[in-house]
Amino acid sequence: MSLFAVKSLKHITAEAESGEHKLARTLGPGSLIALGIGAIIGAGLFSLTGLAAATNAGPAVTLSMMVAAFGCAFAGLCYSEFSCMIPVAGSAYTYAYATLGEWLAWIIGWDLVLEYAVGAATVSISWSGYVVSLLHDFGIDLPPQFVAGPFEAVRLPDGRELSGIVNLPAIFIIIVISLLLMAGIKESARTNAVIVVIKLTVVVVFIALGWAFINKDNYTPYIPQNTGTFGEFGFSGIMMGAGTIFFAYIGFDAVSTAAQEAKNPQRDMPIGIIGSLAICTVLYVLFAHVLTGIVSFKELGVSAPVALAVDRTSYPFLKLLVKFGIIAGFTSVILVMLLGQSRVFYSMSRDGLVPKIFSEIHPKLRTPWRSNMLFMIFVAPFSGFLPLKVVGHMTSIGTLFAFVIVCAAILVMRYKQPNVPRPFKTPWVPLVPVLGILANFSLMYSLGADNWIRLAVWLAIGQVFYFAYSRTHSHLAAGSK
Ligand code: ALA
Repeated sequence: MSLFAVKSLKHITAEAESGEHKLARTLGPGSLIALGIGAIIGAGLFSLTGLAAATNAGPAVTLSMMVAAFGCAFAGLCYSEFSCMIPVAGSAYTYAYATLGEWLAWIIGWDLVLEYAVGAATVSISWSGYVVSLLHDFGIDLPPQFVAGPFEAVRLPDGRELSGIVNLPAIFIIIVISLLLMAGIKESARTNAVIVVIKLTVVVVFIALGWAFINKDNYTPYIPQNTGTFGEFGFSGIMMGAGTIFFAYIGFDAVSTAAQEAKNPQRDMPIGIIGSLAICTVLYVLFAHVLTGIVSFKELGVSAPVALAVDRTSYPFLKLLVKFGIIAGFTSVILVMLLGQSRVFYSMSRDGLVPKIFSEIHPKLRTPWRSNMLFMIFVAPFSGFLPLKVVGHMTSIGTLFAFVIVCAAILVMRYKQPNVPRPFKTPWVPLVPVLGILANFSLMYSLGADNWIRLAVWLAIGQVFYFAYSRTHSHLAAGSK
């Protein structure tokens, strides 16, 4: 069977419309935007903004945010077209299977592990940073070596600096959320709405109250001079900062997975995707402006930068509220990511590309509990032992790669199947997909050689698996024999 055999659109849609997959069309534009914001605002904003300012862009992290938003907007328009054309509660994996063939679909599905599973690890490390900081406010200090991985330095109470051993709170939250998923807790639209309100309140309150504490001196120089190393300030720093901060936008693709539940997908999908992106971009830029205005960017490379900034205002009482809000927000993002991960592998398993265990449903709980457990075991070491920056960049490069393929797939599909009904059409094709490919590829480039090597190693492992297992077990291959 050819590596490029595609799963027919009719087949995918029929599968989706059958029995258990049939979903009610209840979501309007407001709910779709809320869904997007719920998945988007998280560790990227509350932790990586500080990191990107401190190590890459300085106060010009605001520009990094705008650059990243462009790449996402182009990809978002391409996602919108697919989500209406292939209205399956799926993902880039499903889109690729229908357009680019099994081999590339496999690559995307495998790559999405970086977005979802490693993304969950990234947020868990930020979660740990804010929880440790909150507990400290209550007079509880966890042993420093057990709240950071071996590649991070920690300061002991006697002032000595050592490296950490393991980030136990980060592992803890991955275990708790995985257990909740196994038990069948999904984030309902109502819980999501509450968390979105909390998150937005934290962001808006921080911007509104923090504005008065901006020290303009912190903006000079606005674009610190490059140190001579690629990505350390200057233009390359803004680009690398954009690659880092890109993480903050991940999640808008979650809106595309709800196409089947949208009342009027043709109009509402792009509104949901572009609307949530636009709102987040404006808030992010203002947020970063206030953060780097209150605290010098040089001090922002800490795990809970927002807490540091709130400390510098005359509203330290807000600190507890802000931290609570942030922790609640992170928790929902981890849940969405681990849920997304199990969904992607569920689809891949139903297609025969990964073992059946990933689509085995518990008879009573009705959840893919073994899959949840396996991913818990997979994610925990990333959470426990790797630094935020490494896992964050792995997530970003993996997601950017998926975006590049989705943009390319729009071009392929317009050429191969020009007459398939497209309730929403990406405007200005081929310009928008081409710009999407270029913008997201530039962000990948800016993430530097180490991250390319990590991506290549991960994809190479995937190839071994594909040729050793998936190719012969694939249902499509079985059907063609
Ligand atoms: N965009 C999500 C976050 O920043 C993944 O946590």
